[in-house]
Amino acid sequence: MEHFTNPKFFGKIKDADVIGKAGNPRCGDLLTLYLKINPKNKTITDIKFETLGCASAIASSDMICKIAKGKTMEEALKIGFQDVSNRLGTLPPLKIHCAQLVTEALKDAINKNLLNA
Ligand code: FES
Repeated sequence: MEHFTNPKFFGKIKDADVIGKAGNPRCGDLLTLYLKINPKNKTITDIKFETLGCASAIASSDMICKIAKGKTMEEALKIGFQDVSNRLGTLPPLKIHCAQLVTEALKDAINKNLLNA
């Protein structure tokens, strides 16, 4: 609940190095992740999100930002939806796709960054 009612990573990074997006056509939820990346060691130095979606999508967005911040791109690519769900205290089965949505957005951002490297 805390990650839904008081998300620490909500917002936009105006000079983001890369932006990742994901959407779920079935529920209509949309997520944008903004990342700042240290070019020397490829570490995520800052990360924020904007989510148009349900409470679980917002909480999952905040949690993936918390998990990913400070990690290298390689480490962040390994973050799975189970990691997000477990750290939130386990999402109900109907809401697992909310955690999948946020991992897709992070992978989108990282893959875009790797393509531009
Ligand atoms: S209901 Fe679809 S992402 Fe939450």
